[in-house]
Amino acid sequence: MAPLIAIKYDRDGGLQLLDQRLLPHSQKWLPVDTPEDAFAHIKDMVVRGAPAIGVTGALALAVHLTRGGAGAQFRSAGDCVAEVERVMDYLVKSRPTAVNLADSATKLKAVARRAAAEAGATAESVTAAVVEAAEATLEEDVAANKAIGAAGARALLDAVAARGRTRSGGKVRVLTHCNTGSLATAAYGTALGVLRALHEAGALEHAYCTETRPYNQGARLTAFELVHDGLPATLICDSAAAALMAAGDVDAVVVGADRVVANGDTANKIGTYSLGIAAAHHSLPFFVAAPTTTLDASLPDGGAIVIEQRPPEEITHFRGQRVAADGIGVWNPCFDVVPGSLVEGIVTEKGLVPRDPDSGDHAVRAFMRAL
Ligand code: MRU
Repeated sequence: MAPLIAIKYDRDGGLQLLDQRLLPHSQKWLPVDTPEDAFAHIKDMVVRGAPAIGVTGALALAVHLTRGGAGAQFRSAGDCVAEVERVMDYLVKSRPTAVNLADSATKLKAVARRAAAEAGATAESVTAAVVEAAEATLEEDVAANKAIGAAGARALLDAVAARGRTRSGGKVRVLTHCNTGSLATAAYGTALGVLRALHEAGALEHAYCTETRPYNQGARLTAFELVHDGLPATLICDSAAAALMAAGDVDAVVVGADRVVANGDTANKIGTYSLGIAAAHHSLPFFVAAPTTTLDASLPDGGAIVIEQRPPEEITHFRGQRVAADGIGVWNPCFDVVPGSLVEGIVTEKGLVPRDPDSGDHAVRAFMRAL
């Protein structure tokens, strides 16, 4: 079976997104012809998952710059830089918590400014540099995920072995949350990439995925990916995770991230914090798997992360049908923050984030400086 992807791009054919709101029942591709299309598709969850959002924003910029005759639409290199800044500053407002789109914006704006500063720079040369960098994000994310998968599988197996929990045949049973796979990235996935790597190595006894209320990314998307790839897997309610650990059926937890800040505090799908606490209570290793595009050393700790609130209807309604009592108030944060102290390791494509020798915190800032 062909590997799953959620983002299709080529310079002639343009950018298309798999409408994830319809999965697993139907597969429909939507075009992204303008930055406004990209903004709406990100906000409305046609595409979701931190790395996928970052790649989509970059490719939407490439489409915008190449449609309408490449650099011909700008009078000067400076005009092109201003347009790159305008479009990326606009796109980053589509969803606030995941940092990957802001990372794409920072990098592409820097590429534009550098290209414009070169001798003889023209609108065409700046456009070409930005489009090349934007297009590269797709391949870079896949390569990062493969590296995270390999490093994460190794780290997780070591951590499980250190606790004497390895199963016969060197296998492990791993719980994950939300969707962090091919649908949430350019392909392969982060935390789900770790599960894929374990499976490829013959070391995955069983995967458990949470339903991931209220948007059901686990039931709709992760379950779809696990079945598609033939991994041995079981779906559980979010509220069953601690009971599953108490039953002794989980050896480790691996989740993705929307933003990992300087001390290792990690914003991820609502429910991640509860899983971190439950894993600590059961002495289970809890790993975060994320590309370096998810690291944000500018924020000191998780208290500074803006948490997106989603519409109340995600909780009060099911498939358009009201299930909650009329008049009830709703609190629907889309993400929570798991303290870095509960995270055994943060696995990136450049390896594990080391610990600060004095504080014992994950040393995200030093790690990023050394990249
Ligand atoms: O609201 P979503 O579906 O965009 O949330 C996705 C998650 O929380 C993922 O765990 C995270 O973005 C990492 S995806 C590799």
